[in-house]
Amino acid sequence: MCGIVAYIGQREAYPIVLKGLKRLEYRGYDSAGVALLNGSGLKVFKKKGKVAELEDHLTGKDVRSHVAIGHTRWATHGEPSDRNSHPHASGNGKLAMIHNGIIENYSQLKQELLKKGHVFKSDTDTEVLIHFIEEIQQSNQCGLEEALRIALKRVVGAYVIVLVDEDNPDTLIAARKGSPLVIGVGKGEHFLASDASPIVEYTKEVVFVNDYEIAIIKADELILKNISNERQTPYIQKLDIELAAIEKGGYDHFMLKEIFEQPQTIFDSLRGRLDAKKGTLTLGGIREHAALLAQAKRIIIVACGTSWHAGLIAEYVIEELCRIPVEVEYASEFRYRNPVVGEGDVIIAVSQSGETADTLVAMEAAKEKGAIILGVCNVVGSSIARLSHAGAYTHAGPEIGVASTKAFTAQLAVLCLIGLRVAQEKGSITQQRFQHLLDELDTISEKVAVTLKLNDQIKTIADKYKDARDFLYLGRGYNFPVALEGALKLKEISYIHAEGYPAAEMKHGPIALVDENLPVVFVATHDSYYEKVVSNIQEIKARKGKVIAVVTEGDQTIPAMADDVIEVPAADELVAPILSVIPMQLLAYHIGVLKGFDVDKPRNLAKSVTVE
Ligand code: G6P
Repeated sequence: MCGIVAYIGQREAYPIVLKGLKRLEYRGYDSAGVALLNGSGLKVFKKKGKVAELEDHLTGKDVRSHVAIGHTRWATHGEPSDRNSHPHASGNGKLAMIHNGIIENYSQLKQELLKKGHVFKSDTDTEVLIHFIEEIQQSNQCGLEEALRIALKRVVGAYVIVLVDEDNPDTLIAARKGSPLVIGVGKGEHFLASDASPIVEYTKEVVFVNDYEIAIIKADELILKNISNERQTPYIQKLDIELAAIEKGGYDHFMLKEIFEQPQTIFDSLRGRLDAKKGTLTLGGIREHAALLAQAKRIIIVACGTSWHAGLIAEYVIEELCRIPVEVEYASEFRYRNPVVGEGDVIIAVSQSGETADTLVAMEAAKEKGAIILGVCNVVGSSIARLSHAGAYTHAGPEIGVASTKAFTAQLAVLCLIGLRVAQEKGSITQQRFQHLLDELDTISEKVAVTLKLNDQIKTIADKYKDARDFLYLGRGYNFPVALEGALKLKEISYIHAEGYPAAEMKHGPIALVDENLPVVFVATHDSYYEKVVSNIQEIKARKGKVIAVVTEGDQTIPAMADDVIEVPAADELVAPILSVIPMQLLAYHIGVLKGFDVDKPRNLAKSVTVE
C-alpha cells in the first residue's frame, strides 16, 4: 500500500522516479507526487489520481535533478486530493518526505505540534511526522539524522520513509519499520523502492533494509545504522528477476498476461521439487522442519484475500493427506482475538507479496508464543519470508495486476507439495496415492494450458452476463473456496456484487435471491461431492436461476441442465482447483474489460496491503 521510489546519482532522477512510480502503481493510485532537488532548491509536485496525471501536470516543467523522491498513494489518513498527496514538506519547506505505512499516534503528536505553532496543510499522518522531525531538529539543534532517530523512538506504527533535505542535497535518509524498502546499489548511484520492480532495469544488486534500520544514502555511499546509531553491514543480494517479467509483453493487461503465464508459473513452482518419474519430492526450505511438522498438534494457516482462499483449499488437502487438524484464519482476526496458540502448533503464513501487514503481525504474535512459522510467499526476501523459521517460495514471478491470479495457483501447487511432504514424513499416505498425486501435479500445468484455450468461449459467456446486478458462486469441498475466489475476482474487477457460498449452505439464505435474473456459477467438476452438486443445480434451475457450470470434460449430466457449460480437463479432486479457478479468473477479467474498467487497477484496491 503506497509505493515509494527515490534516486540519487549522476542520471536525471525524474524519469527514473516516474517510471518507478508506474511500476509501483499496483500499490495504490489515489494520487502521486515527486520532490526534486536542484540548484534552485527543493521542488514538490503532486496530483490527485494516477501517475499519468502527475506526468501530464509536469509536462514542460523544469524537472532537472539528480536527486528525487516519489510516491504513489493509497489513502489512509485524509481523502485522495492534491493537498493530501505525498511528498509532504516541513514547515520551513526545506525537508520533503514520502511515507508508506501508518503513524498510529499521529493525533497526539499533532496536538503537541499545534501547541508549538505548527501549521498543517494536509490531513495526513505523514505531514505530522515531518513536522515532528523538524521540531526536534530545531529544538535540539541537531542534524536531520539525529532528529529522525529521536522522532522514530516516539512513533507508534509502521513506516518506510525517505527524506530529502535542501541543506544536504547530496544525501537521502530513509528508515523502515514494518513496510518494505529495497535499495538498489549501482555504480555511483542508488535507487530506493518499495519493491525491486523499479530497480531491476538498472542494477540487480540490492539491499533489503530491516526493521528499525536507518539508511544514509549518497550517490556513492550507503550507510546502514540501527536505531541506537550503530553501523550495520549492508547485505547485498542479487536479484533474479528480469525486466520482461514486469512488463506487459504484448498483452492488453497485466491480469491477462498473468492468467496466461500460469502453465509456466505452476511448472516453475514445482520444478526441482517434484520428480514424478523417480517418485520423489524435495522441499529444501522445510527439510529441517519436516519431522516437527509431521508431529504438529495443529496447523493454523493465516492469510488475507486470495491467499486466504488458497489456505482454505490447503486445509482440505492437509487434513485429508496428513490427518492433522487445520484451521484457516483471516490474519487480521487471528491477531486481535488473543488466539490460543503455542508450542506444537505450526503456522503457515500464505502471502503473495510477503508484506501484508495483518499476516506479518499474526505471524509475529504466534512466533512469540512458541509456534513454528512456515512462510509460503512469492517475493524473495520479503518480510514474511524473513520472519519465517522455514518455508517454500512460490515461483510465480512478479504479479502486477492487483487481482491475484497466478500467485493463487502457484500457492495451491506449493501447499499441495507441503501436504504431500508432511504426509510422507508422517506415514499417513500410501505409496500408491503419493505417486498418483505426484503424477497429477506433474501434468497439471499442461492441463492449465488446455483450460486457457477456453478463453474465447468464456469471453462470449462474459458478454452474455456482464449486465447482471449480482452473481452467486457455488461449490462444495475443494471447489467451495474456488467459488469464493470466483466471487472475489468478479467483485474486484467488475464491481458487480457477487457472493461465494458452499453449494448446500445456499439453501439457508442466498436461495432467496434466485430468480431469472441471477447468474449462478457452479464449480462442479467430477469429485466426491459431484452428485450432491447436481442436486443443488436442480434447486437453482427450479427457481429459474441462470446456471453457468464449470464441469469436467465429458460430463453428460450437468450440460443437460445448465445454461452455459465450461469444460475443464479431468484431474484428481485435490489438484482440480488449480484448473477450475482458471475460468473464474477469465470470466471476471472479460466482464471487467467489457464494462470498460481498468482491470489492472480496480478502484479502491491496492495489491500490497501494508497497513493493518
Ligand atoms: C490484497 C490484494 C489481493 C491479495 C491480498 C493478500 O487485497 O489485492 O490480491 O490476495 O491483498 O495479499 P498477499 O500479498 O498477502 O497475498
